[in-house]
Amino acid sequence: MALLPQARAIVTGGGAGLGAAICDRLASEGARVAVLDRRLEPAQQVAARVGGIGIKADVADAEACREAVDSAVAGLGGIDILVNNAGVGWMNPFLETPPAKWDRVVSVNLGGTFNCMRAALPAMRGAGAGSIVNIASISGVRPSAGESPYAASKAGVIALTASAALEFGPDVRVNSVSPGPVDTALLHNLFESHPEERERYVERTPLGRIAEPDDIADAVLFLASPLSRFITGQNLVVDGGITLHGSSVDGMLEVLGQNGSSTSMVPKYARDD
Ligand SMILES: NC(=O)c1ccc[n+]([C@@H]2O[C@H](COP(=O)([O-])OP(=O)(O)OC[C@H]3O[C@@H](n4cnc5c(N)ncnc54)[C@H](O)[C@@H]3O)[C@@H](O)[C@H]2O)c1
Repeated sequence: MALLPQARAIVTGGGAGLGAAICDRLASEGARVAVLDRRLEPAQQVAARVGGIGIKADVADAEACREAVDSAVAGLGGIDILVNNAGVGWMNPFLETPPAKWDRVVSVNLGGTFNCMRAALPAMRGAGAGSIVNIASISGVRPSAGESPYAASKAGVIALTASAALEFGPDVRVNSVSPGPVDTALLHNLFESHPEERERYVERTPLGRIAEPDDIADAVLFLASPLSRFITGQNLVVDGGITLHGSSVDGMLEVLGQNGSSTSMVPKYARDD
């Protein structure tokens, strides 16, 4: 049986990458999807593929979000699921981040999530049910150097998710998904200029590969669907384990293995052999 029969969903940034995979996955489980994107043509292409509606809007613009969500709700006949996926990346040294770049990254990633939630929540609460899934990032959980606006915006998404979950239960559930590196256009620039980075990501990931968009779309489906009916306010990390690494003793097992003894870290007085 399908997981989302007759569900009505809005997916932001649905024209490419993760968003397009999420549209495909929700539609494959019976949902009708409004594909919202800053670029109309890709939104319409994905919408045509999944039998949904394509709508143009820049999520950083609160008024445009309200109009787009209203038009999606009218076109779909209501709303059950909102996936806030639209986002932009940024990596540069802190002092080389112009204030205008900070504003844009935060206003798309965090502001856009707030704008679309604010536009959709009245209809969800009015209907007495709904599930919101916000796409955050491992950068919001375990930030790296050089991604201050991006990491701050994604940490903000996780906090916004928890706060809204407290406010809108029991009717509406609000959760986030934090992907690790995913094979989309967002990373292709990096991999083209620094091919060795792809290998480094794979080596550091316990599950041994970079995520495909479908890996994230399945987690979104879980949180959007009744399978997660008693889960709200949570941030689900989907990163193949890349953020599990410890700090000081990370890699020590391999070093000890080279010495032929896995017990050489145990002091002599504590050995029982
Ligand atoms: N790819 C990764 O490695 C990765 C990792 C963690 C989190 N994420 C997050 O996943 C989400 C999707 O990333 P992706 O890799 O699919 O990116 P992508 O660049 O491949 O696709 C993003 C889509 O969002 C649209 N978009 C961008 N800004 C928008 C705006 N202001 N308003 C409306 N639409 C807009 C784009 O037109 C595009 O269709 C983002 O929030 C990103 O931060 C990605």
